[in-house]
Amino acid sequence: MKNRQRMLSLIGIVGAGALALGLTACSTPDEGGAGGGGEGDLITVGFVAVGPEGAWREANEQNIQDTFTEDAGFELKYAPATNLDQKSQIDAFTSFVDEGVDVILLSATEASGWEDSLKRAQEAEIPVILLDRGIEPDDTSLYVTRIAPDNVEVAKAVGEWANTTFPDGGNYIVLEGPAGVGVVNERNKGFEQGLGDSSLVKVAAQTANWSAEEGKSVTETLLKANSNNIQFIFAQNDEMGLGAVQAVQEAGLTPGVDIKIATIDGTKSAMQALADGLLSFVHEYNPLFGETALDVVKKTLAGETVDSYIIVPSQAFDSPEAAQAVLADRKF
Ligand code: AHR
Repeated sequence: MKNRQRMLSLIGIVGAGALALGLTACSTPDEGGAGGGGEGDLITVGFVAVGPEGAWREANEQNIQDTFTEDAGFELKYAPATNLDQKSQIDAFTSFVDEGVDVILLSATEASGWEDSLKRAQEAEIPVILLDRGIEPDDTSLYVTRIAPDNVEVAKAVGEWANTTFPDGGNYIVLEGPAGVGVVNERNKGFEQGLGDSSLVKVAAQTANWSAEEGKSVTETLLKANSNNIQFIFAQNDEMGLGAVQAVQEAGLTPGVDIKIATIDGTKSAMQALADGLLSFVHEYNPLFGETALDVVKKTLAGETVDSYIIVPSQAFDSPEAAQAVLADRKF
């Protein structure tokens, strides 16, 4: 495995200018005998994951585990964070580097604080692929690529929908993901861009930590604080939006009529709520990018170069009919 790593990492570190030629001799995982090593060697993949954090995360991490299987020539070492704690992720990352895995997949619970770890992986000549979450500062020389839907464009579509849906303005609140998570900043940036010159007025933005419970309690508090004079809620993920639906109903108001709620993720429960008219707009944030990650790992091992950001296509849903059309065979 070592010579493959050395040749591999040459690719990983320089990012571009791959020694494609030099590596074509090496077998890719499913070409009868994994890795550059002997017959049957599995490619070892260390997955520094987020762990339990709602329906989207579960779908995403299960999809990765279902993709990097032994049958496909891989040994996937799945390391979910302990209570979303970054230190547990850095510890797992460090042990993967010390162990000399062939590739590291990283979904960071925090955007900042990864420079040292990524540099260690480079010194150890192990390519790192970011899944979903970006890092800040975003130094693309420290990793092979990031695979994720485009958070800015996804949230921009929510802002544009709100702008056209509320031509006469109104008051709105934002339920944000946890502070320090890269996608939260990207979604705020995109949403603001999409709102453009809207006359909607932001009366509050508060984290509800991706959770339905907190989405409900934060919405309850903000409705009371504003005498229910809120017309629109932008929830940065489905769970928080579904919690807001409960809070609106318990305030004696009608979701979709008195207050319109938009979310991001597109999980089955949110699509059902859109079909039922409880949510008014859902932008998918497609979690099923295992095959894309597999393709990137293969290309990287084969000495090919890949773009530094690979965008996973995701769709917007703005009506009960649109939701109904995909509900039956929704995979997440
Ligand atoms: O990073 C993506 C976000 O993380 C999803 O939108 C949210 O549901 C998840 O927990």
